[in-house]
Amino acid sequence: MKERVAAGGRGGVAGADGCPYVEPDAGGPGRRRGALRLAIAGKGGSGKTTIAGTLARLLAARDRTVLAVDGDTNPNLGQALGLPTEGASEIAALPGDLLKRVEDEAGARTVLTVPAQEVLARYGRDIDLNIRLLVMGRVDHAGAG
Ligand SMILES: Nc1ncnc2c1ncn2[C@@H]1O[C@H](COP(=O)(O)OP(=O)(O)O)[C@@H](O)[C@H]1O
Ligand SMILES: [Mg+2]
Repeated sequence: MKERVAAGGRGGVAGADGCPYVEPDAGGPGRRRGALRLAIAGKGGSGKTTIAGTLARLLAARDRTVLAVDGDTNPNLGQALGLPTEGASEIAALPGDLLKRVEDEAGARTVLTVPAQEVLARYGRDIDLNIRLLVMGRVDHAGAG
């Protein structure tokens, strides 16, 4: 999985205005009805970043809030969203200690060590009013991946 575009709805359902129809989230605890989670995956060079950036822009233009998550170890979704290369490479990637493994009576699982809102506030980069970008990680030097 390379790029994810998560869009929080502000009313309306994707598809009603000509967008390709995407089944809206039925809504569970803590989830807004109408929120979408899209993952864009595929082989290298197949257009994932271009599609993710375009989708983010299209959704934002329709007044939806978008959290764009770049999961590529060679991230360039920032540039696709219009950031200059220099600015995009300065975005801090998420550190590994944001996750920890816990095991209790509920079973073994991986959990965040800080609230999700804090992750967004600390590491999110606002592209414009409707789009925020998170960079999962990057390979800083050869052999680090
Ligand atoms: N529909 C398309 N037609 C032609 N070229 C495209 C198209 N989509 C993407 N590209 C180009 O193909 C290259 C790889 O696209 P990119 O989105 O970076 O792929 P990925 O993220 O899957 O590696 C880029 O140079 C991009 O500009
Ligand atoms: Mg890419």
